[in-house]
Amino acid sequence: MPKILVIHGPNLDLLGEREVDIYGKVSIDSINKDLKRIAKEKGVDIEIMQSNHEGEIVERIGKARRDVDALLINPAAYTHTSVAIRDAISATKIPAVEVHLTNIYAREEFRHTSLIAPVAAGQVSGFGKESYTLGLLAAVSIVKKKKK
Ligand code: DQA
Repeated sequence: MPKILVIHGPNLDLLGEREVDIYGKVSIDSINKDLKRIAKEKGVDIEIMQSNHEGEIVERIGKARRDVDALLINPAAYTHTSVAIRDAISATKIPAVEVHLTNIYAREEFRHTSLIAPVAAGQVSGFGKESYTLGLLAAVSIVKKKKK
C-alpha cells in the first residue's frame, strides 16, 4: 500500500486553543481523525507526526525516502524560514503537498513567502481544516499515479 507521511510543524499542537480568531476551534486530533478516515477510504497508509523542532522534521523527511511515497506538510512558521526543510524535500525528491489552514497571502507580508512552495508539488492554503483534507486527496492522486 502506498504511504503518506503527514507532518504538522511548530505550534500546531496548540490548535483549538491558539489564536482561535485566526485558526478556529478545530483541534489537531480532529484533523488527524479526518485524515485517517480518508486514508482508509482511499486505501493508503498514513503516518502522522507533529514537531516543534526543525531538525526532527528534517531527519524524518530524510528517512522517509525509504518508506514514504508522498508528504502532506504544514510547515507552519518554518514555511517562511526553513531552508533546511526545503532542502530535505528537494534532496529526497518525495512529492510534497504543502498545506496551510489560513490564506498565507492574505496575512502579514512575512507570511507571503513560502520557501517550501518552489519544491512542493502544490499548495493548498486558506480553507481551514479542509486544506488538509483537500491536500490529502492531492497526495493520494500523486501516489496512485506513481504506482501505475
Ligand atoms: C500556518 C500559517 C503560518 O504562517 C503560521 O506560522 C502557522 C500556521 C497555517 O496553517 O495557516 O503556524 O501554516
